[in-house]
Amino acid sequence: LTGISELWTLDPALEDPTTAPSAAPSTERGAAEGQVLHDAALVIEDDHVAWTGPAAQAPAADERIDLEGRAVLPGWVDSHSHLIFDGDRSAEFEARMAGQSYAAGGIQVTTDATRAAGDDRLEALVRGRIAEAVAGGTTTLETKTGYGLTVEDESRAAALAARLVAGGQLDEATFLGAHLVPAEYDGADGRPGPEEYLDLVVGPMLQSLRGNVRWIDVFCEDGAFDTAASRRVLEAGRAAGLGLRVHGNQLSAAQQGVRLAVDEHAASVDHVNHLGREDVEALAATAARPTSPGEGPGRLAVDAGPTVATVLPACDLSTRAPLAPARELVDAGAHVAIASNCNPGTSYTSGMSFCVATAVLQMHLSLAEAIRAATRGGALALRRSDVGHLGVGARADLHVLEAPAAIHLAYRPGMPMTHQVWRAGVRHT
Ligand code: NIG
Repeated sequence: LTGISELWTLDPALEDPTTAPSAAPSTERGAAEGQVLHDAALVIEDDHVAWTGPAAQAPAADERIDLEGRAVLPGWVDSHSHLIFDGDRSAEFEARMAGQSYAAGGIQVTTDATRAAGDDRLEALVRGRIAEAVAGGTTTLETKTGYGLTVEDESRAAALAARLVAGGQLDEATFLGAHLVPAEYDGADGRPGPEEYLDLVVGPMLQSLRGNVRWIDVFCEDGAFDTAASRRVLEAGRAAGLGLRVHGNQLSAAQQGVRLAVDEHAASVDHVNHLGREDVEALAATAARPTSPGEGPGRLAVDAGPTVATVLPACDLSTRAPLAPARELVDAGAHVAIASNCNPGTSYTSGMSFCVATAVLQMHLSLAEAIRAATRGGALALRRSDVGHLGVGARADLHVLEAPAAIHLAYRPGMPMTHQVWRAGVRHT
């Protein structure tokens, strides 16, 4: 591919290990380190990047595509989504816009609809949502179970996610049986209570799907799982060989989601809307934790490395929550990721370009910081080294913008900005 006005390689090999990768680089530093090339070309061989450099020095290739002055980024790495669901919650959203606040209880509405959905319908819905994400430039996608909440329904969701990972439609699958205590465990009239549900999650449910997921997650919040229960979930997941993720400090700081994630060496704590200075510092302190090689090519070990603070700008807007303090986190030196949190309750969009624009316009990140968080940041949160950048050897995941410069993502918010999307060397749009 030639005729590239800006090529954001974000190549880790060009990064100064004494200053990076903790704080996201300023535009100037990114450019100075050769992470943004101008008038550039990129060569794809099979599924990976084989060469990047000045267009004038591009080697011969079997096929040549002129991008006519467009900017090229690594495809977005969306490290947090909940795509496996049926049902509609637009009325809940409308009520929220009329003044009601978000509460975790809406998860039960989606759970009821998802349990009732046939397998084919559920798979078609998920595939449709993946197609939407790819059309917006997402090339690495994590998704979670969490709307089944029985052994059978969580296993079904995990098996579907695993099939889609094996087929190359998804990249990472996460078990979120600890999303909500379902209604049938309310402890009333002789029915089992929340403790029994927790026993189920960390016992038979986890065992039933462990081969199908790489991660375990927990919604650590009042109304969902308190800190002690969340710790139990994470420790059971670790014992089963899974990497750890936490939904933390979303609705309040009443539970200690961030501290728990840091203590347990979770790869990521997501939402992070309600943080004290100590939380920010605790996350920043994990930036020095080294990663180590993982289970296969492009995989880092799930249990080593920083705890990434994943901010979810679309969710913050859709719930009218205080925006996560992305600026403060970056300034403190924490690793930050941006993800869509696509789900029917709090963020029904997989539009990562929109999330990046919001992070620039509303969270006060620089363009380079936001792009990095939505690519390299997400990759670190998923413990992946093969995606989120376009260094030589990376998976050839490209987002060709319908714009001469990446700043147009924020300069022209809401405009269609995706011209082409390539995943693993194959053009999808
Ligand atoms: O990440 N916070 C918990 N889970 C989802 C929302 C789920 C729902 O409301 O359906 C989230 O925002």
